[in-house]
Amino acid sequence: MAKKRASADKTRLDAPYQGASVRRLISSSKIQQKIREMGQRIRADFPDEPLLLVGVLKGAVLFLADLARQIPGEVTFDFIAVSSYGKDTKTSGQVKLNKDLDSSIEGKVVVVVEDILDTGLTLQYLLRVLQQRKPKSLKVAVLLDKKERRVADVRADYVGFVIPDEFVVGYGLDYAERYRNLPDVKILSLSGSPH
Ligand code: IMP
Ligand code: MG
Repeated sequence: MAKKRASADKTRLDAPYQGASVRRLISSSKIQQKIREMGQRIRADFPDEPLLLVGVLKGAVLFLADLARQIPGEVTFDFIAVSSYGKDTKTSGQVKLNKDLDSSIEGKVVVVVEDILDTGLTLQYLLRVLQQRKPKSLKVAVLLDKKERRVADVRADYVGFVIPDEFVVGYGLDYAERYRNLPDVKILSLSGSPH
């Protein structure tokens, strides 16, 4: 009885809409395991220094929350929000700063925490902006890397998973603001949808 209810709930939670379908790419336990390793690696690279994690809203929120708990020692957070603008954003690389950091990063060891590296245009812009503010060190941690989609010459220092060129949702990643709360990373297929 209890089991039956649990699976019914799961179906409802994962129910796609507009003819979309989702299938699991990376399970939450694989994600957590990878984040544990990444946290240790980041701390090993900066054994004695306070770290400032800069989360890119909103997709990186879940990743940052879990990563922060896997880095021993002094860790603080701040958040920044950007959006692409212009009609053809993916090729123009025009990025707008929607919310800036609360505090200065000058002289600090900064790790930018981003959900996914796709064309790299967003991160290229962000790194340019942050580098001008003279951090002591500026590193990048991404959960997912769609390597084959790269346009800008940027790379992450810490990469969770290299994934194929598919649209993914879950664990912070959205489609029209939906699916961010899924514990797994899933591939979203819109083939059956009019969109
Ligand atoms: P980039 O500037 O092309 O690297 O785009 C990075 C941003 O695009 C990410 O921070 C995401 O917000 C979004 N994005 C890219 N690929 C996906 C995806 O597969 N699912 C959801 N969002 C994505
Ligand atoms: Mg994002």
